[in-house]
Amino acid sequence: MDVTRIYLVGYMGCGKSYWGKRLADSLSFDFVDLDNLIEEREGLTIPEIFTQFGEASFRNMEQKALLYTKELKKSTIISTGGGAPCFHNNMSVMNTMGQTLFLEASPFVLKHNILKSDDERPIVKAVPEVELETYIANHLNSRLSFYQQAQFKCNVDGLKLEDLKQLFQ
Ligand code: S3P
Repeated sequence: MDVTRIYLVGYMGCGKSYWGKRLADSLSFDFVDLDNLIEEREGLTIPEIFTQFGEASFRNMEQKALLYTKELKKSTIISTGGGAPCFHNNMSVMNTMGQTLFLEASPFVLKHNILKSDDERPIVKAVPEVELETYIANHLNSRLSFYQQAQFKCNVDGLKLEDLKQLFQ
C-alpha cells in the first residue's frame, strides 16, 4: 500500500498543528507534530533544547527527526516547526518525501495566535509585545522564499476544512 506524507509548513502561529490534526482526522491519516517528535526523541522540551544546546543543535535534531518521517508506515500529516523549511535542505527533502502545503497568515494574525497560545517559543520569547508584529513581518519575509517552495498554498483567513481536503483528493 502506498504511504502518503503531507508536510504542513508556515510561520509560528499559522495553525499547522490545528489544521494538521483536523485534516488527518478527515482523511483518516495519522498525525505527527515534528516538534513533539523531537521532544520524544531527545527527552527534552523545545525550550530546554534551545537553552541547553542552542539553535544550531536544535536544527540538527530537527533535520534528523524530519528524515525519520520517511520511516512512517502509514499515511501521515506532519506539522513542522516554523523554521524547519529554512534550514539544511529540509524543504527539498519534504518535497521529495511527500506533498507540502504552506499555511499563509498575516503578521497580525500570527501575532494574535502566538500571544494567545500556551506554547513557549524560544525564537520570539525575548521580543517585546509592542515590537512583535514588526518582528514577525520582517522574519516572515526572510523565510518566505522557503515556504513558497511548497507545492500548495492556503491562506488561513476564513479557511475551511473542505478547502484543505480538496487539495489532496
Ligand atoms: C520555531 C518554531 C517552533 C519550534 C521552535 C522554532 C521557528 O515551532 O520549532 O521553537 O524557528 O520558527 P512552531 O512553528 O510550531 O511554533
